[in-house]
Amino acid sequence: MTDPAAQFITFEGIDGSGKSTQARLLADRLRARGIDTLLTREPGGSDGAEDIRRLLVEGEAHRWSAVTEILLFNAARRDHLEKTIEPALARGQTVICDRFADSTRVYQGATRGDLRLLADRLHELTIGREPDLTFIIEMDPEVALARGLARNSGEDRFESFGLEFQNALARGFHALAGDFPGRCVLIDGARSSAAIADDIETRLLARMTR
Ligand code: ADP
Ligand code: TYD
Repeated sequence: MTDPAAQFITFEGIDGSGKSTQARLLADRLRARGIDTLLTREPGGSDGAEDIRRLLVEGEAHRWSAVTEILLFNAARRDHLEKTIEPALARGQTVICDRFADSTRVYQGATRGDLRLLADRLHELTIGREPDLTFIIEMDPEVALARGLARNSGEDRFESFGLEFQNALARGFHALAGDFPGRCVLIDGARSSAAIADDIETRLLARMTR
């Protein structure tokens, strides 16, 4: 279990698909196994990135263009990487991150104009790090949207783009798994939280002992 093959793990998927729940459950399970684990999230995860998060998730849907969003998400990610993720990995911790660069590839890169090249180039130049393992939780967008909006968090700017946008995101995440087959694992999110967590833990352990 000390094999660092899966030291940086990310969760991806549409809004309300269960990422935060699964990220938390996996962190609990790894800690119970004695693995020093840091749980973090994007946008956010460091003081500066949390400030930028508020600019991104609150307010009117068309507040920012997709290009401006890519720049803001990258700025937040750079701060998160420098202040939180890299120091934790250097200390030998396992890092679980609720969303990372794949969200930018799909949300900004594939749904509101063809900006995937910009997202990829900026990532390569300013972040330059991919996760070791990415769980993409797949979920019916209608169910996920209802779950997300039911939370009534005041952070619904992206949910407010509506169902068609969530459908495009779901297709985008599915296609992304094909772009990065070495690290992406598709997970069926239409099960109980416990069943999904068992599945994820089994797949992770299979990688760690490989
Ligand atoms: P995300 O981080 O992807 O937006 P969350 O983990 O916050 O999703 O879950 C969204 C909502 O759905 C929460 O209210 C959560 O309790 C609920 N939820 C999460 N996983 C499941 C599941 N497997 N079955 C039913 N409800 C779930
Ligand atoms: P998050 O808090 O994870 O939302 P949720 O719990 O609803 O899944 O993320 C906030 C919003 O930011 C979410 O709608 C997805 C969006 N987002 C992007 O558009 N691009 C990105 O690079 C990231 C990290 C998030």
